[in-house]
Amino acid sequence: MSVQQEMALQSDMRRVVETLHREETNVTPYRSEYRQLLDNHGKMIRATLVVLFARAAGEDSGKLDEQVITGAAAIEMLHLATLVHDDVLDSAPIRRNQPTVHTTAGNKAAIYLGDLILSRYMEIMAEIAPSTDFLREQASTVCEIVGGELLQESARHHAETTLDYYRKAIGGKTAALFRLACLTGVRLSAQGSQGPNASQPDPTLVDTARAFGNHLGMAFQIMDDIADFDLAHDTGKPKLEDVADGIYTLPVLLALRDDPDFAQLLSRDDPQAVEDYLQAHPDLLARSRDEAMQHLDDAEACLGDLAGTVRPKAIAQLSDVLRRIRKQL
Ligand code: FPP
Ligand code: MG
Repeated sequence: MSVQQEMALQSDMRRVVETLHREETNVTPYRSEYRQLLDNHGKMIRATLVVLFARAAGEDSGKLDEQVITGAAAIEMLHLATLVHDDVLDSAPIRRNQPTVHTTAGNKAAIYLGDLILSRYMEIMAEIAPSTDFLREQASTVCEIVGGELLQESARHHAETTLDYYRKAIGGKTAALFRLACLTGVRLSAQGSQGPNASQPDPTLVDTARAFGNHLGMAFQIMDDIADFDLAHDTGKPKLEDVADGIYTLPVLLALRDDPDFAQLLSRDDPQAVEDYLQAHPDLLARSRDEAMQHLDDAEACLGDLAGTVRPKAIAQLSDVLRRIRKQL
């Protein structure tokens, strides 16, 4: 990726952060908690996907349309709202190495702040929506995210959970938002385009955005789940939390399938014993990594399908996003 492209993306993302900061006035009385979230905002991968798919759809260089920046900020707000609530549900003390909202301000503040951010996300999307279908897609994806969380909840402490059930849960709670981010970029960019096909995004690009986002999201969550067992890798979050909370992720589910005695070990509610088991059976983590890698390969193949059809610079930047994520595996 050229320095020029890198700088253009950085400038887009600075505009997204400024937009997010302007939202501070809409989350009173939890402005300081909101500011803390933004001060520690991480890589903003979902907002980056909105921006890059918007560029792939039409604005490869030059200043990106304001509604794309606003849409990217709104998608990041949806993500923030889910995280603030998720940390309450998971009783997580830290995220990105900082205390979580419910830890510093209490559960009530965390629930209200999540609600306020979620409401503003909806309001913003309603303001910039190019069509009712756009809003329908936003709303149904939020339902899907909640549905994925509920699937996970219903499988808590269940040693009979199948791999398909797990994949369905992470497809909802995580991949759906990645998919929505990519689609939002394409749809908002089409709105800004001129000519007879304005508001009509290229169907191939829509399909690719959907598949790419889905694969990247699946890979992302599997990697997050593996990292929970990787004590040497600082994720800014507590370790061995999933198994302590009765959430059985891919390496654990593979162990349950392979070894009839593993259920007995799991029922001891001893996260360190599970960690020791996984270290003694490295193929379980390796097979989980392979599944994440396969999704990253599939996402890369989606970009390959687009070669020559849309803006090459944006495709190169999306490829770069994949390359960086792959390096963490
Ligand atoms: C993180 O999973 C959580 C999610 C990806 C989704 C959370 C969704 C909800 C709580 C329900 C919907 C909420 C709203 C506001 C619509 P994780 O716990 O595996 O990841 P982590 O390790 O980063 O906590
Ligand atoms: Mg969590």
